[in-house]
Amino acid sequence: MDIENIVILTGAGISAESGLATFRGPDGLWEGHRVEDVCTPQALARDADLVHRFYDERRAKLAEVSPNPAHAALAKLDANWPGGLLIITQNVDDLHERAGARRLIHMHGELKSALCAACGEAEAWDGALPPGSSCPACGAPQLRPDIVFFGEMPYRMDEIDAAVRRADLFVSIGTSGAVYPAAGFVQTARHHGARTLELNLEPSAGSYLFEDTRLGPASVLVPALVGELLA
Ligand code: OAD
Repeated sequence: MDIENIVILTGAGISAESGLATFRGPDGLWEGHRVEDVCTPQALARDADLVHRFYDERRAKLAEVSPNPAHAALAKLDANWPGGLLIITQNVDDLHERAGARRLIHMHGELKSALCAACGEAEAWDGALPPGSSCPACGAPQLRPDIVFFGEMPYRMDEIDAAVRRADLFVSIGTSGAVYPAAGFVQTARHHGARTLELNLEPSAGSYLFEDTRLGPASVLVPALVGELLA
């Protein structure tokens, strides 16, 4: 089968070897915190300090980590693949772009961005974001982390859906397949004729939906796949 359009979905597993914790499993972010306490609009309304502190700590951590060979390989694929390509990341870190990826969508938001709950403008943001910070665009004291909370709509779903439907190859990397809508992209891709491949450390909840699964660390599997695609 000729491959022209590639869609890649990444999750926390691609950043694990850079030193960023994944969500589920031992030492996962959701082991130390209840999702409902830090990742819902209700949590923000109830205890903004806790929610802001959780994301401030994660934002600060970005300064200590670097892209790993998996991010670098995807950036190389992006730079050299002549056909359509889209990297959809569920990650809120900035490691894909720091590695050089350009055709990238952060569907769950970004740590280095703040969102105004009043006017909806997003602002580049580094450092701490105290509750009540004022929006540079409209002045309202309602800046919040630009993170898609549970119960909120992920970003740029129209573009994502169009790309997934066009895909000849759909690759999922380092995601547990536990969170929708991302976990359902593989079914859409398959339904529209794409080949589907999962790269993950261990079998995931969604492995059965993929034609092929390769098990191992992303820093090994992703450069190998990119080598095959660019050969
Ligand atoms: P999870 O923590 O649910 O899953 C991470 C996956 O990566 C697991 O299947 C691991 O086996 C795998 N993994 C770990 N280390 C790896 C490595 N070195 N190489 C390859 N794979 C590895 O994270 P996500 O699937 O990204 O949403 O979670 C999805 C969403 O749930 C997140 O975007 C977040 C969370 O709630 C929001 O915050 C909105």
